[in-house]
Amino acid sequence: MKLIIINGPNLNLLGKREPDIYGRQRFEDYFLRLQEEFSRISLHYFQSNHEGAIIDKLHEVGFSYDGIILNAGAYTHTSVAIADAIAAIETPAIEVHISNVYGREEFRHHSYLSPYCRGVIVGLGLKGYELAIRFFLG
Ligand code: DQA
Repeated sequence: MKLIIINGPNLNLLGKREPDIYGRQRFEDYFLRLQEEFSRISLHYFQSNHEGAIIDKLHEVGFSYDGIILNAGAYTHTSVAIADAIAAIETPAIEVHISNVYGREEFRHHSYLSPYCRGVIVGLGLKGYELAIRFFLG
């Protein structure tokens, strides 16, 4: 089982960024814990602040991996190009948001990506990534 977590813009600042919304844990630390917990699978992590780099990664993994866990950050609400990439690949993607985007500004209520994702996990903090892994494990 080969899975990848892809985080989009500003998510490299988790732990420092608006901690009241996103928590105080660095993603790198959380990811190490996930790798320990799910040591029997091949779990990868990629983060980029650049739309094209996220699309390139989706293309790279999207015909060989078993699942993608995608938090595209603000690109969720703007990017037709990332939506097209998810539609173009074969590997199913689960959309994850740490915060409850529906309790926040109106512009966060719309996702270009959701229609092309297998499912969406919203507002459950970092635990959302773990739940997505568990879904793929079946
Ligand atoms: C986010 C929600 C987005 O609206 C925001 O732009 C982010 C993070 C989340 O994980 O809650 O960068 O995707």
